[in-house]
Amino acid sequence: MECKKITINVFEANGIEEVQQADCALLSRAHQASSDAYAPFSRFNVGAAVRLSDGTVVTGSNQENAAYPSGLCAERTALFYAQSQYPHLAVEALAVVAVSEGRQTELPAYPCGACRQVMLECQKRGGKPLRVIMGGSQKIQIVENVIDLLPLAFDQFQE
Ligand code: THU
Repeated sequence: MECKKITINVFEANGIEEVQQADCALLSRAHQASSDAYAPFSRFNVGAAVRLSDGTVVTGSNQENAAYPSGLCAERTALFYAQSQYPHLAVEALAVVAVSEGRQTELPAYPCGACRQVMLECQKRGGKPLRVIMGGSQKIQIVENVIDLLPLAFDQFQE
């Protein structure tokens, strides 16, 4: 048996000054959106902002529920809203930021597995790479294609 190595590409910036303006703007919208989170159970406020192909920005935040599995992450809140309101526009970029105890986390907020799967399908639907910008106060990480967050992804229709 052969061991196959899979490479993913992650771009890393150690401060906001290293990040391009469009990504900074989206991170800032995600940060703002985190203040609308409804997270009384985790007290972990997450904000997401997505940019569509016509430049429209849609935001979302995590929305929790006493029946825990009924809650939804910020990323999927934003993506499902974008796709339901603008079904003909591709999602070009998504930024995510988390705030805990009133401060942005130092490390980037990494999307959960379910959100990655939804991002992948959004990317496929849009027909172009979906850039994901994960912002922490000390480090920002960017992938230019969702497949870098989900190698060996489930895809019912792949060959
Ligand atoms: N959460 C998100 O909104 N996005 C992520 O990428 C990870 C986790 C939410 C789910 C839950 O409301 C809280 O953060 C704690 O897990």
